[in-house]
Amino acid sequence: MAVEKNTKDAVGAMRNPQTIWAAMTSSDFNFPLLQEAGELLRMGGLVAFPTETVYGLGANGLSDSACKKIYEAKGRPSDNPLILHIPSKEEIAPLVLEISNEAEQLLEAFCPGPLTLVFKKAEAVSDIVSGGLPTVAIRIPKHPVANQLLRLAGVPVAAPSANQSGRPSSTKASHVKEDLWNKIDMIVDGGDTEFGLESTIVDVSVSPPVLLRPGAITKNMIEEVVGTIELDPTILNKPEKDVKPKAPGMKYTHYAPKARVVLVDTEAETLVDTINHLIKSDNDKKIGVLATEKNAKQYENAVVRSLGNKENLEEIGKNLFDALRWFDEQNVDLIYSEMFIKEEVGLAIMNRLEKAAGYEVLRHR
Ligand code: TXA
Ligand code: MG
Repeated sequence: MAVEKNTKDAVGAMRNPQTIWAAMTSSDFNFPLLQEAGELLRMGGLVAFPTETVYGLGANGLSDSACKKIYEAKGRPSDNPLILHIPSKEEIAPLVLEISNEAEQLLEAFCPGPLTLVFKKAEAVSDIVSGGLPTVAIRIPKHPVANQLLRLAGVPVAAPSANQSGRPSSTKASHVKEDLWNKIDMIVDGGDTEFGLESTIVDVSVSPPVLLRPGAITKNMIEEVVGTIELDPTILNKPEKDVKPKAPGMKYTHYAPKARVVLVDTEAETLVDTINHLIKSDNDKKIGVLATEKNAKQYENAVVRSLGNKENLEEIGKNLFDALRWFDEQNVDLIYSEMFIKEEVGLAIMNRLEKAAGYEVLRHR
């Protein structure tokens, strides 16, 4: 347990000049500090905390002024709504107009966990949280630190991913520090996040439900519970000018490192040669390659980062955002990336990668 120390105003200060750093593992809660984090949230402060997906930047979801601070700290567009986080299903009812059978079934199967459900919102949910939409997104994280913190806060906690708007989501407390230190009141460090990709979002305000953002809870897993669901058309393709993603956040350039990212689509047998050829033909640039374990050592004259074993999509997903951030430190001009199957967790990986690449794909088939 380590605490990076603070000189903090009385709890309730609108903004702390000094961020508190509270490190804790799930088996080693620093309970007094977690209580302080809960108090800070309740009183209108901003607290970053670990969840099983990515780090969240929390604020009291019942306070407009606290929620506005989230948009400010992140530089987030105001029409991009926030997810409300609660510790258990019992807290949903006052926030929504109705809970459909499908919603009940998904809650039963996957919550707490890496799933966010979109409901018709109740009056109690402000337009600042919903970004002006008639719906509200709700998630019950299962990470023990997050879950305990939400209990201690005693209010629904609005929390987007704890990154500067447009940058890859934070999967480590150090990422949060890079992006938000001094803009927020406290960072609760719970180590690396388990999944490393944001939660699956399913709209249950309509029937059949619609998948708005793929994540660790896959389309197949959901369909086993509620039957066939629809896929928001913008998940896999560049949104057409007149087609808006139903999850407003999915329309923004996202997950993007500073360097241009290009996805390379070719047969597995020729992939390494193709990328090596591309590197050679661009020899005035510093080039990065986002690779898989088996191929990583075969790339020449490039800064290479392996995401892990191609067969292990969970591992790839867990490492993706850290790798994209790492390339920023390497000052590469251009990153070529291998691609993954768009199935199971691969759908979530490719969804994030395509956004990081601004949908730029080189086809060599
Ligand atoms: O795993 C996660 O979901 C993390 C952790 C911290 O819980 N949170 C997260 O929040 O990824 P954020 O704000 O980075 O992404 C939330 C996404 C955005 O694309 C937003 O537009 C969408 O959810 N969203 C929020 N409320 C919505 C609503 N009422 N209808 C449709 N989409 C909504
Ligand atoms: Mg985000």
